[in-house]
Amino acid sequence: MSSSKSSSKSSSMDSELQVKLEQRKVDNLYRQRHVLESAQDVQVQVDGKTCVAFCSNDYLGLASHPAVIDSLRRGAETYGVGSGASHLIYGHSYEHHALEEELAAFTGRPRALLFSTGYMANLGTIRALADKGDHVFEDRLNHASLLDGGLASGARCHRYHHADSNDLSRRMQKVTSGRKLVVTDGVFSMDGDLAPLPALVEACRQHNGWLMVDDAHGFGALGDSGGGITEHYGLGLSELPILMGTLGKGFGTFGAFVAGSDALIETLIQYARTYIYTTALPPAVASATRISLKILQRETWRREQLKNLIERFRSGVEELGLELMASTTPIQPVLLHDDELTQKVGEQLRIRGFLVGAIRPPTVPVGSARLRITLCAEHTEEQVDRLLDAMDKTLVDLRSKGG
Ligand SMILES: Cc1ncc(COP(=O)(O)O)c(C=O)c1O
Repeated sequence: MSSSKSSSKSSSMDSELQVKLEQRKVDNLYRQRHVLESAQDVQVQVDGKTCVAFCSNDYLGLASHPAVIDSLRRGAETYGVGSGASHLIYGHSYEHHALEEELAAFTGRPRALLFSTGYMANLGTIRALADKGDHVFEDRLNHASLLDGGLASGARCHRYHHADSNDLSRRMQKVTSGRKLVVTDGVFSMDGDLAPLPALVEACRQHNGWLMVDDAHGFGALGDSGGGITEHYGLGLSELPILMGTLGKGFGTFGAFVAGSDALIETLIQYARTYIYTTALPPAVASATRISLKILQRETWRREQLKNLIERFRSGVEELGLELMASTTPIQPVLLHDDELTQKVGEQLRIRGFLVGAIRPPTVPVGSARLRITLCAEHTEEQVDRLLDAMDKTLVDLRSKGG
C-alpha cells in the first residue's frame, strides 16, 4: 500500500473519531489526565502544583509506607522486576504463592488466587462461571468490570434495582434453567454505600444462586481487622462462596485476588482466560503486599482515624447545606447533579490546591454528577476542614457568577 493511500485512510479515521471527541466536550464529559510528579500520598505534586489529594483509593495510606516500599525493593533485588511469564508457564513465584496462602487465611477461605488487576479478576471469574444459557444478576450500580464480565460471559444479564434484594428475588424466581450467578460490589465505588449482603445471601439461598462480591473498596476500611464487608457482616464461605478483592486500593499496592473453595480456585486456574493468558504480577509486588497485609490488619488506628475523619467531613458538608449520600465508608460523594457545575467545581478546587473526583455520566447515572471525595487515614483534621472551606468558597464564587 502506498504511503499517500495509508495516510488518507488514517486521516479519515481521525476525522471520524474527532467528531465523537468534540461531542464529548460539548456534553461536558471529556476526560483529561493530570501528571502526578510526586509519591502517592495525601500531599502530592500534580502538573507542577502542590495539592492535597482527596481522590485516592489508598484509604489507609499504605502506598508510600516505608516498610511496604522496602519490601518491594528487596523483592526486586531477589526476584528481578518482571515475572517473565504467566502463572501457568513459570511466572508463579514463591512470593505469589505465599501471598495467596496469607490472603486465604485473612479472608477465612480455603484458597485464594492472584490476578494481575481487579478488572481482569472480575472479567475472568464471571466468564469462567457463567456461559450461554446461564443468568447473571447484577446490581444496577455495579462497577464496569462486573458489568463487562456479565456481557462477556454470553449469559443473559439481569440488572436489579440498586441494593434491592426484593427486586433481585423477583427476577431470580422467573428463571427456571441454567446457573444463577449474583454479582455485586461490596462497597459501591461511586456511592460508598454497602450492598445488603445478608438479604442477598438469603435470596441466593431461596433461589439457588451463587453469590459473588467484589470488595475492592471494603478491604482495609471495614471490619475490626480490615477484613472488609465479609468481616463487617460476619459472612463465611457457605454464605458467600466467591469473594473478590483488589490490592491497589486499601492494600496500597497492585493486583487483585479471588478467594473461595478449592473447587472454585481450581476452576479459575483452568478456565479464567484473564488468569491464564497474561503475565503474572511482578513478584516484588507480591512481597510488598505481604507486608501491607500485615500492616492493614495490625494498625487499627488507621481505621479509627478514618472513622473520625468521615464523621468530621459529613457534619461539615451538612453545615454547608450540601447533599451527601448514605455512606459510612471513606468514599463520600457530594451530589451536585449538574455535569458542568461538577466539572467546574473540580477544576476550581484543583486551582485552590485540592484534588477531588468530578464524576459525571456515564460513570454514574444521568443527573447524579458528583464530587467523589475519598478520605485517607493519613489526612489530618485540618486538611479536611480546609477542603470544606474551599468547597464552600468555590460554590459561592461559581453561583455568584451564574455558574
Ligand atoms: C469495585 C471495583 N472493582 C474492580 C475495580 C478494578 O480494579 P483494578 O483497578 O485493580 O483493575 C475497581 C476499580 O478500579 C473497582 O472500584
